Amino acid sequence: KTRVAILISGRGSNMVSLIEAAKAPGYPAEIVLVLSNRPDAAGLAHARSVGITAHAIDHRAFPDRATFDAALDAELRAAGVELVCLAGFMRVFSAGFVEAWAGRMINIHPSLLPLFKGTHTHAQALAAGVRLHGCTVHYVVPELDAGPIVAQAAVPVRAGDDPDSLAARVIVQEHRLYPAALALVAGGGARLQGDRVVIEDDGAAADAAL
Ligand code: GAR
Repeated sequence: KTRVAILISGRGSNMVSLIEAAKAPGYPAEIVLVLSNRPDAAGLAHARSVGITAHAIDHRAFPDRATFDAALDAELRAAGVELVCLAGFMRVFSAGFVEAWAGRMINIHPSLLPLFKGTHTHAQALAAGVRLHGCTVHYVVPELDAGPIVAQAAVPVRAGDDPDSLAARVIVQEHRLYPAALALVAGGGARLQGDRVVIEDDGAAADAAL
């Protein structure tokens, strides 16, 4: 099984969905480490409660981005991590860190990329008047929310939606999508070729996963 670390900054509901999925015997990844840049992240306690090593590396204790990223990198390597999943990790990395983990780090973003990068994605979608919104799992590249796309799920935008109601509809799909996408990446069903993701089996395996 692929050794996976999950990086969080807060609630950690996507982290929980990955941990739950990884309990299945045939799942190709095991969650070996959870790290947060915020000591108060609620997800840390949950991870520990299910026996996963979890701790904070408080970014405020480091003089700059590169030093924090080096500490993160050292923890990941010490734990033998092969693949990193960002799950609500709200901190931008230095280019060096992203390059060190190129092709081995994925993120979930709450919009149908390349639309609505950055924060407040649900408000952005409502302001744009789109009728479909959703979430994306993508490989991480130095440019924010710009990496090759592994998988997406869409939801309708309904009359009367506000950012909270839309977020609630999207998060349900995030919790389905991320475990499926991680299974594809860790199981070799998706791989990076240049700046594209190649899905090895576009038929049954991908359908079953998604
Ligand atoms: C999720 O909606 C995730 O897509 C988003 O933050 C939320 C974290 O929730 N991530 C980003 O906006 C990344 N830029 P969670 O902590 O409950 O998984």
